[in-house]
Amino acid sequence: MNILVLGSGGREHALAWAIKQNPKCDRLIVAPGNAGIAQMSETADIDITDGGVVANFAEENTIDFVVIGPEAPLAAGVADRLRDAGVPVFGPTAAAAQLEASKAFTKEICDACGAPTARWARFDNAEAARAHIFETGAPIVVKADGLAAGKGVVVAMDEATALAAIDDIFAGAFGAEAGASVVIEEFMEGEEASFFVLCDGETVLPIGTAQDHKRVGEGDTGPNTGGMGAYSPAPILTPELQEQVLARIIRPTVSEMARRGTPFQGVLYAGLMIQDGVARLVEYNVRFGDPECQALMLRLGAQVFDLMLACTEGRLAECAVNWADDHAICVVMAARGYPGSYDKGSVIRGLDQLLEDSRHMTFHAGTAERGGEIVAAGGRVLGVTARGASLSEAREEAYAMIAGIDWPEGFYRRDIGWRALGGPTPPGKD
Ligand code: AMP
Ligand code: GLY
Repeated sequence: MNILVLGSGGREHALAWAIKQNPKCDRLIVAPGNAGIAQMSETADIDITDGGVVANFAEENTIDFVVIGPEAPLAAGVADRLRDAGVPVFGPTAAAAQLEASKAFTKEICDACGAPTARWARFDNAEAARAHIFETGAPIVVKADGLAAGKGVVVAMDEATALAAIDDIFAGAFGAEAGASVVIEEFMEGEEASFFVLCDGETVLPIGTAQDHKRVGEGDTGPNTGGMGAYSPAPILTPELQEQVLARIIRPTVSEMARRGTPFQGVLYAGLMIQDGVARLVEYNVRFGDPECQALMLRLGAQVFDLMLACTEGRLAECAVNWADDHAICVVMAARGYPGSYDKGSVIRGLDQLLEDSRHMTFHAGTAERGGEIVAAGGRVLGVTARGASLSEAREEAYAMIAGIDWPEGFYRRDIGWRALGGPTPPGKD
């Protein structure tokens, strides 16, 4: 089969890596890809948020299957356009992608199907939103309603922070669309974990759990990032808790989406808050997490493509996931300064000496090739990923790989996995 993967991050490198190992894959193209992806696959520089462009490209290259990595093309209706053109695609319609693209939509779905989540209210003007903050007090969570590249959420521990967030959102700090309305939520306490399921519109198939590290600094301090590392599985999501989440949150959501005539097909990523054995929904994403995907792909390997095919063909009820009883971890290396401003163009050495096998992979995110060398071209640059019989073994392997990377302009957290490996003190690496 000729397979097209859309995206350019570490997530898409991991997806491409897993798909390429599947014997059904004859030709692989990743658009637009990055320097690491270009070492293992064809790449194509096209506008992946333009459904017409993607559908034409698919036709010209006799593509048999498209996998959409990021949320932006999904929200823009690229999957709809491909389906209309008769190209099988892994990823939800724009209508179903509302589960990520609108926080208020997800809250309405939760209310309609009884899924536990934080209490909430939506406001389309700053005055009413401010009055709500004065009434409820802090801590409280303020969210821009639309897609804001992961940046439109402020967890406010005091009223002044909440009020400032409301001003920022209505001033358009997260874009005009994301700033048209604001969702204000009850602050939930507990431990966060992520649950990934495939869904063919009806049947739900769990494909793994993970926890990520959103803060830039060790011990989960400093500003939020896209994710500085992740590991799978997440021990807090016990089989019993997974069953609870499926029964109370995910299956009711999937049924409600089908009932509305907008069935969900693709990967559904439930962000959960767990306290005293009870899980509540924080948010849905309609794509794999980045860097969670890197850890998941190392564990799932080539079978993920068969599962994606079954998902698209409505055959998930026939499928099972073959699990090795293993653990994977991804440690992100980022450019110094990230998530603030950072320089591009520094040379990264040592990558060609690193182990690359079914237990070790360095997935590229923001990289480019310049004169035969790999250079940094983004904030999050590499996802150093390893698998082992235990999380501590996987972690040791990943940090040993990092020791072989010569990139003085980069940094990484030394405590990825600390929650699962036993806190409270994050284990450091000297
Ligand atoms: P979201 O983009 O909705 O996942 O929000 C980003 C992060 O903000 C989450 O991963 C949580 O850490 C935090 N967060 C969002 N909503 C809440 C809430 N209602 N209570 C506590 N923390 C939250
Ligand atoms: N790592 C968080 C996300 O992909 O949304």
